[in-house]
Amino acid sequence: MIRLRGCFSLDWPEIKGTKILNASDPLHAKEALHFAATILQKGGVVAFPTETVYGLGADARSARAVGKIFAAKNRPGDNPLIVHVTGMEQVRELVLEIPPKAYLLGEKFWPGPLTLVLPKSDLLPGETTAGLHSVAVRVPAHPLALALLELAALPVAAPSANLSGSPSPTTAHHVIADLAGRIDAILDGGPCSVGVESTVLSLLTAPPVLLRPGGVTLEQLGMVLQEEIVDLCRNGVEFTGTPPAPGMKYRHYAPRALLYLVELGEKQEERINDLLADLQGRGMRPGLLLTAETAHNFPFTNHVPLEIVGSQRDPKTAASRLYGALRRLDNEGVDVIVAEGFAEEEMGRALMNRLHKAASRVIVAPGNRKGPKMR
Ligand code: TXA
Ligand code: MG
Repeated sequence: MIRLRGCFSLDWPEIKGTKILNASDPLHAKEALHFAATILQKGGVVAFPTETVYGLGADARSARAVGKIFAAKNRPGDNPLIVHVTGMEQVRELVLEIPPKAYLLGEKFWPGPLTLVLPKSDLLPGETTAGLHSVAVRVPAHPLALALLELAALPVAAPSANLSGSPSPTTAHHVIADLAGRIDAILDGGPCSVGVESTVLSLLTAPPVLLRPGGVTLEQLGMVLQEEIVDLCRNGVEFTGTPPAPGMKYRHYAPRALLYLVELGEKQEERINDLLADLQGRGMRPGLLLTAETAHNFPFTNHVPLEIVGSQRDPKTAASRLYGALRRLDNEGVDVIVAEGFAEEEMGRALMNRLHKAASRVIVAPGNRKGPKMR
C-alpha cells in the first residue's frame, strides 16, 4: 500500500488498509481528489467513479503500477486495459496516428462511454496493452474522473474495479465488497449513471468493428459514421482462434448464482414460470430479475427474491440497474437467477450482451434459433 504522510490534513477512514475517500461531500471533494491523484503519481492503484462503472486506475506508462491492477483484480495478463485521458490532445502521444473517424467520433461522443482502439505508440508498456500493437482509449464523462485525470496529469489505465469475472461495480460499496484490502484507495463519488461499460470500437480496420456494445449504441455510431460497422458482438457469433478483443473469451459479469436467461419472445412469461416451478421442485432457491410489466404477472412469488430492473420499453434504465440487481440477488443467497431477456436494439444490445455473457443457460425464444453461444 502507498503511504502518504505530512501533506494531507484529513485522516481518511480505512477498510482493511484501503482508504475510503469521500468525494460526494463537496467540502472534502478537493482533498479527496488530491489524495487520489498523488497515489496515482506515486505508482499506486485507486478506484474512481466514471459515468459507466467504477474503474481501477494506475499510471498507464508504468509496467509496475499496471501490474498492481492485474494482481488486485486477478485479471488474466492477456486482457488489455483501457487507457483514460482528458481529451484528444492526450491521445496523440499514445498512438501512431489518429484517423479522421476518431476525430469525428471523439467530437460527438467524448467525454462519454465510447472507447476507441487505435494503433499504439511506444509510450505504453506491453503490460498495459497485453502485448498488442493497439491501445484502447477513452475520455470519461464523470466530473470526478475528469478532475482526477487533470490533477494526476498522466494517462490512467483502468479496467472495471471488480474482481475479474464478477459483475462490474456501479457504487463504491461494490468496489469495497470486491477489492478492500487489495488496493490503495477508493474515491467514492456515489452511483454511476450509465451502469454498463463503454462501447468498444476498433478503428484498426475499415469498416470499423464493434468489439463490445455499451453506453453509446450501434445506432448512434452508425448515424455519425454513415457506414457499415461490423458487429462482432451479436449473440451467437462464434470465434475460432484468437478473438479480436481478448476480453471476449472470458466469462464476465457473472453473479455467484447460476444465471438462466429467458430470451424475449412468444410465451416468455410461461417459460419463466415453468423454470421457476422446475427449480423449486428440485429444492433449489431461485431469484427473479424481471421488468415491472412481467413482475406484475407473478403475484404469488412473495417468497422468491425479486429485482425489478425497469421496463421493456426502457432498456437504458434496466442496463443502469443490472449489476446492482445481480449483486443483491447474490447477497440473498439464491442458487439460480432467472432473468428476463430484452429486445436486442439500442441499449438492449449492451444489456443482452452482459446477460448472455453472465448466463450459464439460455432459454432461446421459439422461432429464434441461433448458433451456439460464444464463451
Ligand atoms: O466503461 C468502461 O469501459 C470501464 C470504465 C472503467 O472506463 N472500463 C472497462 O474496462 O470496462 P475493462 O477492462 O473491464 O474492459 C476493457 C475491454 C476488454 O474486453 C478488453 O479486452 C478490451 O476492452 N480491450 C482493451 N484494449 C484493447 C485492444 N487494444 N484491442 C481490443 N480490445 C481491447
Ligand atoms: Mg471489466
